[in-house]
Amino acid sequence: MTQDEAKQKILVLSAEIHRHNHLYYVENASQLDDFDFDMLLKQLEALELEFPQFAFENSPSKRVGGDITKKFETVRHRFPMLSLSNTYSEEEISEWVTRVQKLVAEPIDFVCELKYDGVAIGIHYENGQLLKAVTRGDGEKGEDVTNNVKTIRSIPLQLSNDFPLDFDIRGEIFMPHSQFQRINLEREAIGEQLFANPRNTASGTLKMQDSKLVAERGLDSYLYGIYSTEPIDQGHYESVMRAASWGFKTPNPSKRFIEKTKDLAGIMDFIRYWDLERSNLPFDIDGIVIKVNNYQQQKSMGFTAKSPRWATSFKFKAKRVETALITVSYQVGRTGSITPVANLSPVLIGGTTVKRASLHNADQIEKLMLHENDVVYLEKGGEIIPKIVGVNLDKRSGDFGPIQFISNCPECNALLVRSEGEANHYCPNETSCPPQVKGKIQHFISRKALNIDGLGEETIELLFEKELIRDVSDLYVLKAEQLLQLDRMAEKSVSSLLAGIELSKNVTFERVLFGLGIRFVGETVAKKLVRYFKNIDAIQSATYDQLNEVEEIGEKIAMSVQQYFLDTSNLALINRLKSAGLCFVKESEVLDSTILRDKTLVISGTFSVFSREELKELIEKNGGKVASSVSSKTDYLVAGDNMGPAKLKAANGFGVNIISEENFIKIISL
Ligand code: IVH
Repeated sequence: MTQDEAKQKILVLSAEIHRHNHLYYVENASQLDDFDFDMLLKQLEALELEFPQFAFENSPSKRVGGDITKKFETVRHRFPMLSLSNTYSEEEISEWVTRVQKLVAEPIDFVCELKYDGVAIGIHYENGQLLKAVTRGDGEKGEDVTNNVKTIRSIPLQLSNDFPLDFDIRGEIFMPHSQFQRINLEREAIGEQLFANPRNTASGTLKMQDSKLVAERGLDSYLYGIYSTEPIDQGHYESVMRAASWGFKTPNPSKRFIEKTKDLAGIMDFIRYWDLERSNLPFDIDGIVIKVNNYQQQKSMGFTAKSPRWATSFKFKAKRVETALITVSYQVGRTGSITPVANLSPVLIGGTTVKRASLHNADQIEKLMLHENDVVYLEKGGEIIPKIVGVNLDKRSGDFGPIQFISNCPECNALLVRSEGEANHYCPNETSCPPQVKGKIQHFISRKALNIDGLGEETIELLFEKELIRDVSDLYVLKAEQLLQLDRMAEKSVSSLLAGIELSKNVTFERVLFGLGIRFVGETVAKKLVRYFKNIDAIQSATYDQLNEVEEIGEKIAMSVQQYFLDTSNLALINRLKSAGLCFVKESEVLDSTILRDKTLVISGTFSVFSREELKELIEKNGGKVASSVSSKTDYLVAGDNMGPAKLKAANGFGVNIISEENFIKIISL
């Protein structure tokens, strides 16, 4: 392929991928299935790798992340990001309406919108290209989180139709409930502390250094305000509608996410509608925003010290009810973590009957100073989960004492442990505490691990009850005759189960490692360990320092991995899985070239085309080895920006070839 052909093909592919991305994430009307979409993306990635000079800054391949931001730069907003005044009652809204109506001598159109509960973002576009995305910060200055924002699929990297050449757009980045629940399930499976709510998770995610991890978190956005020196249209509502045509995900009038109205009655109707309906939204809102539509009118009303006079927000009251605490029971999770749960006298709140509420951990019980038989306050905010927020002390009888956290596992009676600095108590009996054993098996067979079809929760329960499985290695010695004797297991389901088990022997090492369910070893960590150590024996014998050396692996994970391999029953399990034929070595990779054979390279600094992780992969794919420090054995030092001075000095001392990212690309393209 000639350079011109490559450039042309990259342009065409990018436009096509942008279009399908928009259809899928903004319009909700996809025209391609996932596989075909991935194929387009793969073609583009391959071309960009071969012709890095044409890999555009806003290529759709950026959606998967890769760029690392070590330090988020502080950026001054072109237009300050103000906050909103709050109101809490119809009366206050009515006062606000009267106030603004006095400020202009003409009729006012109001726009009602949802108040999304996430993180505010300001994005600057020039010539239809996303240039910079900045958090709100203190309103004057925020942090540059461009690399991370580029991974959010509903935010366009390139605009379509007749967009203005230079403008900012403001909106909210949030985490939909579905993603929040998925992430917490994954965290639970590897024993990580659960995230508290979608808003904090969205805000934490936006500040992560590795944009690849951000891309996996499934953030979403709604854009609700356009700022430019030249007004886009007469009013706010009309501008937002235009922004939709440029490719933004903006509030949809047909879903009543945005609505124009002329008076208080219309505003209150919108508020009442969403007070009831908000529990059915797939994301959190914490109120309603009301804005004066016309830009001229807005301008004449101006601002107070902190917020515009032409807008206000109505905050929903968290719904609060009282109910009796009957008992506290304790659940044992897959990793042995103990969760106290309050069993309540059933009570209706926000349209659902609640009988149970998580108390999270011992600290929470202590904080609430909960006594047996207390009458508690239960609240449901915008969030999905109701929580106990306090105790009605007037109704406490003196007959009962404080709730005592259990000291033994409710399932296996083992003495619970709580490590220094940990919020949760754990049952240490990993090998025979039933929910832990069953949980481990469930994790092992799950889609992202061994992906064994035909084996659901109930079947595992049954196999466990009949003592046919005690750990995951037992799956590989199951016989058809044994399975046929079980209830609900007919010939067909038995053969599909056995076929699923057989197929799982082809699963890659990284997924097997993830499937083992080592505490804190999630999908990403498993991938990193496999890439670094290549086989299980190397991971098993790795020292604490060697583990710590791996990107993103810190003290907590390194200790957990070491602990896992110190346990002889785990080693025996791995041996049984090895004999069953499971894969414990990294697949031998097809090399792109052997141009770097016998060469050792060190990477230092930050790079513009590739991330460090990608550079490392490229070196290995071309036959080379990557070392972490410069020595006499180093052949090349690939030097990026802000390279460590120690490395530079060592490289000069040993006479190592220092090459730029550009030259490195040239070498591997030879
Ligand atoms: S307009 C000057 N519209 O609420 C007006 N804000 O206190 C600026 N928010 O941090 C904001 N949904 O992140 C506006 N539809 C909406 C909103 C919204 C959520 C957040 C915003 C800001 C806070 C304002």
